[in-house]
Amino acid sequence: MPDLWQDAMDHAVTLARKAGEIVRNALQNDLKIMCKSSSVDLVTKTDQNVEELIITSVKEKFPGHSFIGEESVAAGEPCVLTENPTWIVDPVDGTTNFVHGYPFVAISIGFAVNKMLEFGVVYSCIEDKMYTARKGKGAFCNGQPLQVSDQKEINQSIIATEFGSNRDPHAVDKIFSSMRKILCLPVHGIRGVGSAAINMCLVASGCVEAYYEIGIHCWDVAAAAVIVSEAGGVLMDVEGGPMDLMSRRVLAANNNIIGERIIKEIEAFSAVRDDEP
Ligand code: IPD
Repeated sequence: MPDLWQDAMDHAVTLARKAGEIVRNALQNDLKIMCKSSSVDLVTKTDQNVEELIITSVKEKFPGHSFIGEESVAAGEPCVLTENPTWIVDPVDGTTNFVHGYPFVAISIGFAVNKMLEFGVVYSCIEDKMYTARKGKGAFCNGQPLQVSDQKEINQSIIATEFGSNRDPHAVDKIFSSMRKILCLPVHGIRGVGSAAINMCLVASGCVEAYYEIGIHCWDVAAAAVIVSEAGGVLMDVEGGPMDLMSRRVLAANNNIIGERIIKEIEAFSAVRDDEP
């Protein structure tokens, strides 16, 4: 049977490559940096240009499709996932990295139909790594199949997480306290590359056992969620149960044993949902 969404996925890969070139070129020039919700929540002209490029091109090729894009939502567009085929786009995941030339920046394109994720494309454009996954067809990096780690011992694991852009002292206390507890389990290490999408692709690649964060947005994780599950991993909420794409919380792990072990140590808190009007 022909794959209904293969054409869309091929287009997503082409767009991610084009966007990656724009991001790499922009790194050579002076960046115009602006702030969004706070002085540590950054956006650049490149974020906006790349999102515009992706949306314009998809509208031309797939006129009936919907969008959720980081910069469109910042500009006041609604963030609502309907049954309609929907592109969930982060034009530059790792904007702070981008601004500082820290070399982990990704273009993240997820695609959902009937509220179910169908494919994900994450292009780590400075490393030139193209991560792709189509539901039921496996996950790949530059065409090579991906498989999560088979580690079941938490004390033999590396866990990825981020501080994010929340500077509320109570939230920061909880973030530190969770990290402290996880570090002292002990684990081999705690890492974080400054891009939620790349952190999750590292889980899919098998070099990190798990990644969790509270405060991410649906566009940071939609594409990489498909990549993790197609590489054999699991996705959960930080307090257990299934991941809710709009809840701004995610835990991606190589298996349930590692995922559930970390949940015991995470001091969870809520963030304002992405789909809250
Ligand atoms: C951010 C990155 C970062 C994570 C933040 C995200 P952005 O995305 O993924 O690693 O800690 O929570 O918002 O703003 O660079 O697209």
